Amino acid sequence: MSESMKGMKRTHYSGVITQAQLGQTVTVMGWVNKRRYLNNLIFIVVRDRTGIVQVVVDERRVPAEMYQLAKAVRGEYVVAATGIVIARTPENINPDMPTGEIEIDVQALRVLSESEVPPFQVADEDVALDLRLKHRYIDLRRPEVQHIMKIRHETAQSVRRYLSADGFLEIETPYLTNSSPEGARDYLVPSRVHPGQFYALPQSPQQLKQLLMVSGMDKYFQLARCFRDEDLRADRQPEFTQIDIEMSFIDAEDVHAMAEGMMVTVFKEVLGVELKAPFARMTWHEAMERFGSDKPDLRFGMELIDISTNAKVANSEFQVFTDALGAGGSVRGINAEGCAAMPRKQIDALVETARHHKAKGLAWIVLAEDGTVKSTISKFFTPEEINEIAAAMGGKPGDLILLCADSNPVVLNALGAVRLAAAKWKGLTANYQDYNFLWVTDFPLLQWSQEDERFYAEHHPFTAPREDDEHLLETNPGAVRGQIYDLVLNGIELGGGSIRIHRTDLQRRMFAMLGFSPEAAEENFGHFLEALKYGVPPHGGIALGFDRIIMLMTGAESLREVIAFPKVKDASCPMTHAPNHVASAQLEELGIQIQF
Ligand code: AMO
Ligand code: AMP
Repeated sequence: MSESMKGMKRTHYSGVITQAQLGQTVTVMGWVNKRRYLNNLIFIVVRDRTGIVQVVVDERRVPAEMYQLAKAVRGEYVVAATGIVIARTPENINPDMPTGEIEIDVQALRVLSESEVPPFQVADEDVALDLRLKHRYIDLRRPEVQHIMKIRHETAQSVRRYLSADGFLEIETPYLTNSSPEGARDYLVPSRVHPGQFYALPQSPQQLKQLLMVSGMDKYFQLARCFRDEDLRADRQPEFTQIDIEMSFIDAEDVHAMAEGMMVTVFKEVLGVELKAPFARMTWHEAMERFGSDKPDLRFGMELIDISTNAKVANSEFQVFTDALGAGGSVRGINAEGCAAMPRKQIDALVETARHHKAKGLAWIVLAEDGTVKSTISKFFTPEEINEIAAAMGGKPGDLILLCADSNPVVLNALGAVRLAAAKWKGLTANYQDYNFLWVTDFPLLQWSQEDERFYAEHHPFTAPREDDEHLLETNPGAVRGQIYDLVLNGIELGGGSIRIHRTDLQRRMFAMLGFSPEAAEENFGHFLEALKYGVPPHGGIALGFDRIIMLMTGAESLREVIAFPKVKDASCPMTHAPNHVASAQLEELGIQIQF
């Protein structure tokens, strides 16, 4: 029964027809969203990218075979309908539908493509994720997902306009390139021409964009696909897109101003939201101390409070506290205001959260509304002491005090996570449209890994130390702060960047700090070190996670929702089944043998 479009031309998208078209003959084409009968009438709701419109087939006014055709139409058939736009009778007006005041009185109807019963209904909101992604082309028909794709497109256009107007050049860098360390594993691509050798897909175009600065391109940007073989999370995909930016003859302030201007413009143009700039700023140290996180969610308080020096804590005989303090750690806590009514199960989950972040435990004090006090540490303290500790935490009836004693990094991380979990329970993170941007600056340049007994670059090896800390690079590496800045929105790292090293001697010292012998540095970064010899402008930049921006703009729960064809947890694609086996001939050509 499928026919061609021959002789029919779409005149309008479904979702845009209104009373303005009353009396006009229009042709719409799209998917059958719904179909129902009423006496001599068949109503077909046609859906396309813009929305839905109702088409009426009246048995008394169309040829019999057309009526039969309309009867045979099923959900997700692709149809073309030509007819006159008529007003609905008042009782049939549907105020929930932009096209709800009109319908199309059909003169010609064609089925362009039939559909089997789809694996799930487009309108069904409760479909298992795997099924949705296996048939992502059906999932993408949902208006909510189409809306996200539209926002994504508009954001990309807005970014391009903004940066072009600001003098940036959009330049593409290769995907087949060498490994550049950004902290994750590389995806490798074997070379046929050079058996046994591999390209690496870029984790980011970091070195290449810096080389573009050496080239004199001055201001570069790219919507760059990046590839990282790391564990997936809601905010991590193995391939993702960065708004990648690099600028010459600038300082960190220039990068901040550019990125703020871009976000303000994009939010205004795409969402109609006015962001307040300049954004808040905080050093990494302050963020860790106050929020236990290098990407604090500023939509709510519940700040960490250090009670290590409180007399009742410092002089207590509670071994958990004294051990931690004796070992140079601290006792800190948060006052989860208004959380006294939290169910026990939920409090236990907070304790688990703390444990998950390596804390040995989490003590709590429930200050019930009726004045009663309940605590896990009441065995170790008198009621007066508990009250004093609660008071030091700013506790009042109705509050829940959560305390952790351990080494400083453990206490901060654990309480940072507990803070988020408590806020989530209280509903303080529910409003995604309360956009709280924040710059976190002055991260440590290097991170010591106890496991590997070596330093790793906090950001990447090309980041410059703060000039006033440079002299400490060899003597006290852990204390050196980098010229690093992260852009954070509502507890999610949107972007990160830095001022780069532009001197060969400093770059060599940095590689040495990261454990590269001069020979190893030459082998891994020889081309880069070579380029640094030939006139390098001071430069810096940033990369913003494009998918994450879209996720936060739309309130989506996962990056999966904002990527047309995303990967799932094990980095596979349920639709194409990638990754997959390849023909043995292909492997032979590449000189590859599979061993398990
Ligand atoms: P960084 O590694 O911080 O910096 O990445 C920049 C931003 O990219 C986003 N992002 C991701 N998004 C989705 N899935 C992932 N797996 C993922 N990993 C990172 C985040 C992050 O803030 N070359 C440097 C930038 C620079 O120094 O200019 C870099 O890649 O939003
Ligand atoms: P324990 O003596 O280990 O059973 O601990 C008694 C109580 O102390 C526990 O119920 C917790 O509430 C609390 N606690 C244990 N470890 C810690 C810790 N590292 N920080 C804060 N409180 C703790």
